Amino acid sequence: MDRIRIVGGNALNGSIPISGAKNAALPLMIASLLTPDTVILDNVPRLSDVRLLMRILGNHGVDASIDGKRAGQTEQSGDTIRLSAQTIVDTTAPYELVSRMRASFWVVAPLLARMGEARVSLPGGCAIGTRPVDLLLMALERLGATIDIDAGYAVARAPAGGLRGAEIMFPKVTVGGTHTALMAAVLARGTTVIGNAAREPEVIDLADCLVKMGAKITGAGTSQIVVEGVGSLRGARHSVLPDRIETGTYAMAVAMTGGDVLLENSRADLLQAALDVLVQSGAEISETNEGIRVRRNGHGIMPVDVTTEPFPGFPTDLQAQFMALMTRAKGTSHIRETIFENRFMHVQELARLGARIRLDGDLAVVEGTPTLKGAPVMATDLRASVSLVIAALAAEGETTVHRVYHLDRGFEALEKKLGRCGADVTRISGEG
Ligand code: EPZ
Repeated sequence: MDRIRIVGGNALNGSIPISGAKNAALPLMIASLLTPDTVILDNVPRLSDVRLLMRILGNHGVDASIDGKRAGQTEQSGDTIRLSAQTIVDTTAPYELVSRMRASFWVVAPLLARMGEARVSLPGGCAIGTRPVDLLLMALERLGATIDIDAGYAVARAPAGGLRGAEIMFPKVTVGGTHTALMAAVLARGTTVIGNAAREPEVIDLADCLVKMGAKITGAGTSQIVVEGVGSLRGARHSVLPDRIETGTYAMAVAMTGGDVLLENSRADLLQAALDVLVQSGAEISETNEGIRVRRNGHGIMPVDVTTEPFPGFPTDLQAQFMALMTRAKGTSHIRETIFENRFMHVQELARLGARIRLDGDLAVVEGTPTLKGAPVMATDLRASVSLVIAALAAEGETTVHRVYHLDRGFEALEKKLGRCGADVTRISGEG
């Protein structure tokens, strides 16, 4: 198990290339199950979750390959992945694979839509909360599927003649539910209306790719999406949108350490709420043709209260990172987590660095302190892990972050990206 060693105190200066979004790449890859033709995805981030999903899709019969480097490509260009689901050989997604990556449960929708059946292991709990899949299954039932739970598996079957369009009203905004409903409805007979749909940019990216594949979808990015089912879909080529969570993470790192960094290829419209909060905390943010520029020079960090919300609100996937920033604010901030009930696992680890945080239900009260001190730490999910990296960048002395595999799930070349801006970050291979 690798570790990352960080010696804090350096400002960040330079540029960081932003990769394609993990949370867009995963559903886009899963959508390749909907067609016998080849789906080509560009700008795919090099992450362990992407590799694992390639294996999971391979288990269903998808031929998945990564293109070699082409002339003019730099290390910063993402991968190009070809996915070809000409023949689905297996409609079962086993526990051993689904339990390692929750998002792989979403294969239930394209398998059901194209093959009329799917047997997918229920994902179980995870480090950030209970995370049920009831709303995903509800969406499939609305489209006419029958669902049985058998030995830990959700067994979904389409009615004779296939899924049929319907109205799906989500009682709560769910990204995975919206992805699932979209991927099932595109091949259903008739019209589906998805109400209270997630408006996350990753939903728009999936819908854009599905439209290139021949799907008829309107309203993606609003809370009502309308899908006219079609008989079949074809291959397409699509470039994954930039990762707004990676962007926000590095923006918060710069706000923490001070300095001046260009986040190349990033787009402000993908994370405006988080950028607004950073401005309130004292960072200077400007959008250029090449990406977002983040600076903080001289001034201290001001406390800001935030509440996590579905897009376009402040994202839960940046909550831990923002909390790290607030540990050094000049005053007290309040951070409310409304999406996942247990997403405060970083609090105890931040405390090991000297942070003063009090938890009260879904509220964290963070009392800023001028100095953090390095320590060995570990975390249980990828956003929590990277919040420790942010805190360590500003802590006195050395911090070792254990269980780096969490970071490798969601942050491509983290130590290189920070290192090129002046951070003292080293990966140590081996036992940890
Ligand atoms: C996606 O998870 C992301 N994962 C998460 O990112 C992200 O935190 C989350 O959306 C919210 O933005 C991927 O895209 C791969 P949800 P998802 O369904 O789709 C409840 C990361 O770090 N709910 O929008 O699983 C659920 O418990 C990950 O990259 C039900 O009650 O999240 C939560 O409270 C972590 N029943 C809320 O809805 C259901 O059937 C929103 O969850 C489904 C969800």
